[in-house]
Amino acid sequence: ELIEVTEDDFARSGYEHYMMKEMMEQPQVAEQLIGGHLDERHGTTRLPDLNLSPRELRSFRRVKILGCGSAYYVGQMGAQMIAEIARIPADAEAASEFRYRAPLIEADTLYIVVSQSGETADTAFAVEEIKRKGGYVVGVINAVGSTIARAVDGRVYIHAGAEVAVASTKALTNMAIVFAMIAVEMGRVHDLSLIDGRRLVAGIAALPGKITQIIENRDLLDPLALTLSQASSIYYIGRVRGYPVASEGAQKMKEISYIHAESYQTSELKHGPLALVSPEMPTVAFIPDDELTDRNIAAAEQIMARQGPLVAFTHAGVDLSGLDAQTYVVPKSEPELDPILLTIPMQLLAYKVAVLLGHDVDKPRNLAKSVTVE
Ligand code: AGP
Repeated sequence: ELIEVTEDDFARSGYEHYMMKEMMEQPQVAEQLIGGHLDERHGTTRLPDLNLSPRELRSFRRVKILGCGSAYYVGQMGAQMIAEIARIPADAEAASEFRYRAPLIEADTLYIVVSQSGETADTAFAVEEIKRKGGYVVGVINAVGSTIARAVDGRVYIHAGAEVAVASTKALTNMAIVFAMIAVEMGRVHDLSLIDGRRLVAGIAALPGKITQIIENRDLLDPLALTLSQASSIYYIGRVRGYPVASEGAQKMKEISYIHAESYQTSELKHGPLALVSPEMPTVAFIPDDELTDRNIAAAEQIMARQGPLVAFTHAGVDLSGLDAQTYVVPKSEPELDPILLTIPMQLLAYKVAVLLGHDVDKPRNLAKSVTVE
């Protein structure tokens, strides 16, 4: 029997959706990105395209990251990594709001904009605002030669290759890895020790193998996807490193499954959101193996006490036997790098839910791949 094969089928390399193809490519594009940037001996990373000498890199007192949508959430992950690893105050902000709040642009702040397409108008306007006021801005960008790539003072390309699906996956992972590398490079010109530098460099080098494990074991997410596919609203909760992961997880779920999903800091639950927890309202909870594990478990118990179904993402060795939760174990990395790996099952989960619900995964309604208007 002859089957009509279109050009599009070739481009999807046999996968039903671009999104799946792009998630599968992650170990390979991560490997390509990392290659050549790690210096194991000196426990540091090297990103010459930032266009900054070690002395210049040391001179920044603050880091401000700007991006939109998922790029903003990756920016939040990046800010946490920079603050924790390089011990420099860092935060992230939605680029779409930036120029409207008369931002102070400071000479000793390193501005970093993040964009897959390099064409997002809101992010391009933020670059304009920073440059008009004399700030130094670098880009973390996928599309080579794009508008934002040309406008910034320095740029790191994430080398994720073409991304077609509206829901960004491999680009986000590579952006997060670039932030880990920026954090280590900045850290090593500040106070990060050689031992910690080497530990983190080894952690970055090990990421592609761990991403492969997550992808190979993706069917373990099926029962969790089934539970969530029956919900009309889902909470995603995490703390500190886990909170941007929760926000990105909720974003992916909304984009392609059309299920309402909202992220909260786990610590904020009792200040309001707990009111909505019920047997109809599942919560996706991040309970990584870190200094907040016990507090995260205590919050999950609060949800259980209100009969809220729990879907927990955790690490091997964390004892969740006291929780009535559907659990998925994510490979462990260095604590500072854990968010990079925790985010990948969020993509697969949203994908599986969207497929179960029969949605057009690659082209969700109302959304464009790149938002070139304000
Ligand atoms: C991601 O899944 C989204 N489609 C969206 O939030 C996207 O990340 C955002 O519009 C920013 O795009 P950019 O990275 O091309 O600037």
